[in-house]
Amino acid sequence: MTSLLRFITCGSVDDGKSTLIGRLLKDSGALPEDRAADLADLAFVADGLEAEREQGITIDVAHLSFATPRRRFILADAPGHEQYTRNMATGASNAELAVILVDATKGVLAQTRRHAIIARLLGIRSFCLAVNKLDLVDFDDGRFAAIRDDFAAFLAEAGGGELTAIPLAALPGDNVVARSGRTAWYDGPTLLEHLERVEIAAAPDGPLRLPIQQVIRDNGDRFYAGTIAAGSVRPGDEVRIQPSGRRTRVARIVTMDGDLEQASAGQSIALAFADQLDCARGDMACAPEAPPQAADQFEATLIWMDEAPLLPGRHYLLKIGTQIVPATVHKPKHRVGIETMARLAAKTLELNEIGVANLWTARPILFEPYETNRTLGGFILIDRTTNATAAAGLIHFALHRAENVHAQALAVTAERRAALMGQAPRLLWFTGLSGAGKSTIANLVEAKLHARGRHCFLMDGDNVRLGLNRDLGFTAADRVENIRRAGEAAKLMTDAGLIVLAAFISPFRAEREMVRAMLGEGRFVEVFVDTPLAEAERRDEKGLYARARAGEIANFTGIGSPYEPPEAPEIRIDTTAMSAEEAADAIVRYVENA
Ligand code: ADX
Repeated sequence: MTSLLRFITCGSVDDGKSTLIGRLLKDSGALPEDRAADLADLAFVADGLEAEREQGITIDVAHLSFATPRRRFILADAPGHEQYTRNMATGASNAELAVILVDATKGVLAQTRRHAIIARLLGIRSFCLAVNKLDLVDFDDGRFAAIRDDFAAFLAEAGGGELTAIPLAALPGDNVVARSGRTAWYDGPTLLEHLERVEIAAAPDGPLRLPIQQVIRDNGDRFYAGTIAAGSVRPGDEVRIQPSGRRTRVARIVTMDGDLEQASAGQSIALAFADQLDCARGDMACAPEAPPQAADQFEATLIWMDEAPLLPGRHYLLKIGTQIVPATVHKPKHRVGIETMARLAAKTLELNEIGVANLWTARPILFEPYETNRTLGGFILIDRTTNATAAAGLIHFALHRAENVHAQALAVTAERRAALMGQAPRLLWFTGLSGAGKSTIANLVEAKLHARGRHCFLMDGDNVRLGLNRDLGFTAADRVENIRRAGEAAKLMTDAGLIVLAAFISPFRAEREMVRAMLGEGRFVEVFVDTPLAEAERRDEKGLYARARAGEIANFTGIGSPYEPPEAPEIRIDTTAMSAEEAADAIVRYVENA
């Protein structure tokens, strides 16, 4: 059986990437002559290409399979446009080798470095530097050596790896498949020779890890399907299902082609167990004595892929293998300077930037460090509102600071405290533009509830910003943190039994939904104080709109910063049709009757 090499090609069209791929396919005989006519246009192999889809997100990676008598190849080719980090990261995550293309007339560019860093980060250890267009520099060995040494020095800085540099000219075909007569000074392999001979790292072994992708029910039988991420399994083996910790034995290993006596890393299989047990998508079948780590806080490298920069504190969805959990990223510890690999200060990460940050997840996740296992340590972050892949991440290690902090059961529960007060605790969350009337209406509601003997507390954005949140400004990141803290504080007060009224612009849907999730269904009442911008600006009670229009206040909501109205608030108050008194009465009625 011939072995399989998965590799990626990095470089832009200008570097001659399509030409190189075309030449490689044609001269190696991987393509029939009639389809290899136009070397400069990769479209001629378009029917061999397939865009990958994951979670409804189209990722622009073309997978191309071809073979020579010595080896089979899968090439993931990522187009070099501005979203290239996303495509590259997708292609590189299971590749073993990267062909880094450099134009000999230009040398190593920032983009070359960025590609190499991402490939290295994503676990590629074998690099092939294809120094192309050597015909344009008269096959100058000095020029080749200078580019090779430049890249080698950079790769050492970026973490090191195996490096083979090949002088070539893709258009005429020198050293791609056939040895060139014009590089007498070079005695190394041609590109194809190298790809055919390079050694491939073995599949990860170690204890069994099978992330469960799908539970298949068939006449009362259950099969647990997935791709083995590490180790191997045989019928009769004892396995442990995480996170429940329940143990059972493997009864059968089922595949499309019949049962197996053994399966190992990389194989897609379905297991039948000896016992009926609760095991769902996202669980993991593991070697019983060596379960993977489980943690809800860890350090990771992030490769940011979204136009919208990272917002520390915001809830993203983290998808690691078959597990999906809400997750928050802290302020980055640093980002990586592409030119020098230096650690630079960073408050956020922007498109194509790479940095290191701590994350926490809403539930513990099962993982291995990325260095140990690319499948079990690699994740993506998904923006919950747009569903876009925001980042690729690589877990370094778990943080143990939360390990010895456990939720304490309290003798007097929230229910008992509320019962003593004779009320149902609630959080009435007033959102709307500055000057919409949130504080005015919330004040009236509090007074009316108070008069009815209710225990209330009003938290007003302006007041909280004078104390608890006096260190925060009005950037998007600061507003996210403002609402996170306000939500946590309000939650404590509802636990104390109070009816809490919170009046914050809270312009972002994601954070309002985060507070809703924190409080739990029924306790969170979103009150949208709906005043159109023109009307709020006409009233301009605090004179802030005039100043914002004059350019004196940056990031003013509605002017320099967006407001995302609620989609389904529990209560909507149209202040152009209703007085503050009427609005307050409506809200009190809702609270007393709900
Ligand atoms: S939020 O966006 O983070 O929820 P919050 O409700 O706490 O805002 O504070 C809003 C109040 O801060 C406004 O009512 C206004 O008085 C004041 N303010 C000062 N600068 C700004 C700004 N750039 N945008 C909005 N409000 C501002």
